[in-house]
Amino acid sequence: MNRTAALDGAPARVPTTRRTFLTWAWVTLGVTILVIIWGAVVRATGSGAGCGSHWPLCNGDVVPLDPATATVIEYVHRLTSGGVMLLALALLLLARRWYPVGHQVRRWARICFVFMIIEALIGAGIVLLGLVEDNASLARALYVGGHLINTLLLVGAIVVTIWWATRTCDGLRLQPMFGTEARALSVALIALLAVAATGAIVALGDTLFPSESLRAGLRADLDPSSHFLIRLRIWHPVVAVLTAGWLFGLVTRGHMATSTSRLLVAVLVGQLLLGAVNLLLLAPLWLQMAHLLVSNLLWIVVVWAWMDARAAAQVRAGATSAADGRKGEWSTNAVV
Ligand code: HEM
Repeated sequence: MNRTAALDGAPARVPTTRRTFLTWAWVTLGVTILVIIWGAVVRATGSGAGCGSHWPLCNGDVVPLDPATATVIEYVHRLTSGGVMLLALALLLLARRWYPVGHQVRRWARICFVFMIIEALIGAGIVLLGLVEDNASLARALYVGGHLINTLLLVGAIVVTIWWATRTCDGLRLQPMFGTEARALSVALIALLAVAATGAIVALGDTLFPSESLRAGLRADLDPSSHFLIRLRIWHPVVAVLTAGWLFGLVTRGHMATSTSRLLVAVLVGQLLLGAVNLLLLAPLWLQMAHLLVSNLLWIVVVWAWMDARAAAQVRAGATSAADGRKGEWSTNAVV
């Protein structure tokens, strides 16, 4: 098989173990996103202290008896977070078993697990530091912003693992920043992290200081005496619209494959509409969940396009190299 076909992920005969790995990785991605969305339910319903300031125990118990609603919501989040951690651990073990040393799938499965551990530490920190319920401190704002950035990095790492698992080559690596398209998409990824971090702060502000009406909310946003979480709200739509403009620009300049461009435009337009409706309806819980879900889908599409762009540029330039740094052929014995 030639190098281009290997990078393009051209269809070929697939060993069962690698198909199983791919299925496992998709399941890990899906469950991770569900856990992230449930995290928004914990925040929006003020259930972060549902297990008191205990972690990992819940109100001092392994299984809470006669729990209140907030305890159930928080406990489900802890159980599912533990479950997804096990999925990521299994992903790592399967990668080590079925892929050779130095393969990018092994490397990225390791990175996924590291982000998963950071995620658990952030979650524990939120509870142990009391950054829950009506805590409106700067520390909490920084924490929720950082938490959301880490969730996206985690999702991105799983997506990159899947991307590599769909390639047909072993022992290949990509140059970090190759080609105009990949660089432009890197800017988009960083901008999306900023959009997500500002979105998390808006979501926190909306939860702690719900507005009675759109007009009252906008007036409070512009009032210099308002709490900083309210004054910061205005920045999220601004950063989001600028980022959307950048992404639309990439599409119109033909920086992506047609199918990816179409998907990106559909998800992006949907997300902008959801954001606007969120604002108009004063962010009901189901819309918050939908907005967070679509921000993950958007992130996945851009991460995938970024990997495609890097691979395409590298193939075009004929600059592929073996994992040990030498120019050379890749093993093509494993095809997925
Ligand atoms: C590129 C487009 C956008 C992305 C990726 C994005 C992403 C996000 C994220 C990640 C959150 C935090 C959700 C949470 O933690 O629960 C959020 C919250 C929010 N966003 Fe956006 N957003 C975008 C566009 C917009 C726009 C254009 C508006 C308004 C016109 C908007 C309004 C809101 C509001 C009101 C919230 C707080 C309520 C909630 O949690 O859903 N967003 N956004």
